[in-house]
Amino acid sequence: MNIIDRNNTIGTVVAELPKATEIFKEYGIDYCCGGHRLLADVIKEQNIAGAEIYEKLQQADEERKNLYFGQENNFKEMSPEVLSAYIEDTHHSYLRKALPDTAELLSIVLRAHGRNHKELFEIYRLFGQLKADLEQHLLKEETLVFPIVGEAEENLKEIKDLTHEIITEHEAAGEILRELRSITKDYQLPADACETFAKTYKNLEEMEQDLHQHIHLENNILLAQYSDR
Ligand SMILES: [Fe+2]
Ligand SMILES: [Fe+2]
Repeated sequence: MNIIDRNNTIGTVVAELPKATEIFKEYGIDYCCGGHRLLADVIKEQNIAGAEIYEKLQQADEERKNLYFGQENNFKEMSPEVLSAYIEDTHHSYLRKALPDTAELLSIVLRAHGRNHKELFEIYRLFGQLKADLEQHLLKEETLVFPIVGEAEENLKEIKDLTHEIITEHEAAGEILRELRSITKDYQLPADACETFAKTYKNLEEMEQDLHQHIHLENNILLAQYSDR
């Protein structure tokens, strides 16, 4: 997700980029009651200052990214708090957009091509399962796991039990991804595929890649020491 997309509301910008509050305050922009307004409109209203505001937002966004990406190959050095914030900020927010977007595309493709490509029904079913499982899973991590992963000493039993559950859920997701890859013959498009069909397969394949990295960070780094496997 591009936080400072001009089509985002300023409420979204502030929620995702805390430093934006300072910038909006500086220019007297109401981001609270006026939070539903689009960034594009707010910038336009500010006339000449608009470009300056956007530049400052870009800079704040860069700084936010560097906080994590500067340590990109250094996930192992991150504290559990920083690593879990990174996972939530990148992989969870990616899924929160990609899952519903892909579900919508898939239903469009199925309506248009389902008659000639019966495999789409199985893809639809599997993806629906993956989506429901992951939506629950993300909430579980954000509500139960991430808040205590930095204070594991006091919560050792709980974190071990949760780790077991989380890893089991990762394995279930991995299995669905394998099935999807097999049914789609490694995401090979049929000859009569339209653009939406191609975009759907591209999304599914990207999601697979992203999930592999996401699960790797959780299983092998964040929770590795609490796993009994
Ligand atoms: Fe996660
Ligand atoms: Fe996970």
